[in-house]
Amino acid sequence: MYTQSFNVPDAPGGKTVPLAPSTEDPALQAAFDARIDADGRIEPQDWMPEAYRRTLVRQISQHAHSEIVGMLPEGNWISRAPSLKRKAILIAKVQDEGGHGLYLYSAAETLGTSRDQMLEGLHSGRAKYSSIFNYPTLTWADVGVIGWLVDGAAIMNQIPLCRCSYGPYARAMVRVCKEESFHQRQGYEALLVMMQGTAEQKAMVQDAVNRWWWKCLAMFGPPDADSPNSAQGMRWGIKRISNDDLRQKFVDATVPQAKVLGVTLPDPDLKWNEERQHHDYGQIDWNEFWETVNGNGPCNKERLATRVKAYNDGEWVRDAALAHARKQQQRKMKEAA
Ligand code: 3HC
Repeated sequence: MYTQSFNVPDAPGGKTVPLAPSTEDPALQAAFDARIDADGRIEPQDWMPEAYRRTLVRQISQHAHSEIVGMLPEGNWISRAPSLKRKAILIAKVQDEGGHGLYLYSAAETLGTSRDQMLEGLHSGRAKYSSIFNYPTLTWADVGVIGWLVDGAAIMNQIPLCRCSYGPYARAMVRVCKEESFHQRQGYEALLVMMQGTAEQKAMVQDAVNRWWWKCLAMFGPPDADSPNSAQGMRWGIKRISNDDLRQKFVDATVPQAKVLGVTLPDPDLKWNEERQHHDYGQIDWNEFWETVNGNGPCNKERLATRVKAYNDGEWVRDAALAHARKQQQRKMKEAA
């Protein structure tokens, strides 16, 4: 399936996007551009243009929010998993997503933004997070399909981020991708088992695939022509492969997996194009995507309310941890005196 060894060259021409006019110090800007052009890494202590910093904070914080909101649709099924084995796997997976959120918030903090600021953005509804987590998980098959398709799409997008120009983000992504690869495989394996079961189980898998397929294609973001951040993100080596190219890679990788599983993908226009050496596929409903991104998907309100409640309920834990840290520090100072 998708592993660290899945690697793809940068998009052709990715580095040829012209430099945006800069109001920054020309010498610092030139040194920064030279490092980016040499495919070097930018570290927190290095000088960077404000726009680069802002773009990273935007993308990394949205990514972190997606991880912790992404715990919710599957978390719903922990108490209803069909066996102890499936429950243990699901608990571990949901916990991993929480960990990914922590690595990513920590990476964003190195850019000078605080965790409180980022969470305030999420809780107030200002900050975006992935559209995909605003849909309900209706049956156990949804848990398998999220592993196979949602985590599969996430990995396809995230493996190139392991080579992102900002060091802390790139390093966080290496570990995230290893764990996501396990998530994707466990989802596929759970579905393989269901597809060897009863007619009802098979129908449940097909129904879940029908409901999630198009939403997973939209996850990669708007078409390249309508993606305002892509050109600059690629110039800076943050983004390595465009939204449409990643979407195409996902479709091409998934079609044979669907065949092995024994499900159909719900797209009458999906077919191999000999000339392009890729699959053609149908139209994504971008109106529905933007409605969901803008807060009007089926579960947006529920997801945000759950996050805000979890944050408020956890206040005593944060207070206790801070009080403990203060006490430890006072004790150390006393001993040192
Ligand atoms: N859901 C919500 N918003 C989305 C989106 C999606 N699926 N795709 C794009 N958008 C937003 C962008 O954030 C941007 O909004 P902004 O300008 O207000 O910030 C706008 O739509 C235009 O999109 P662009 O293509 O111009 O934006 P980017 O260049 O930033 O590309 C991206 C979007 C491909 C999602 C990129 O930000 C990215 O690669 N982010 C990191 C990966 C990530 O966040 N993945 C989310 C899923 S994580 C996950 O699934 C967890 C796993 O455990 C399952």
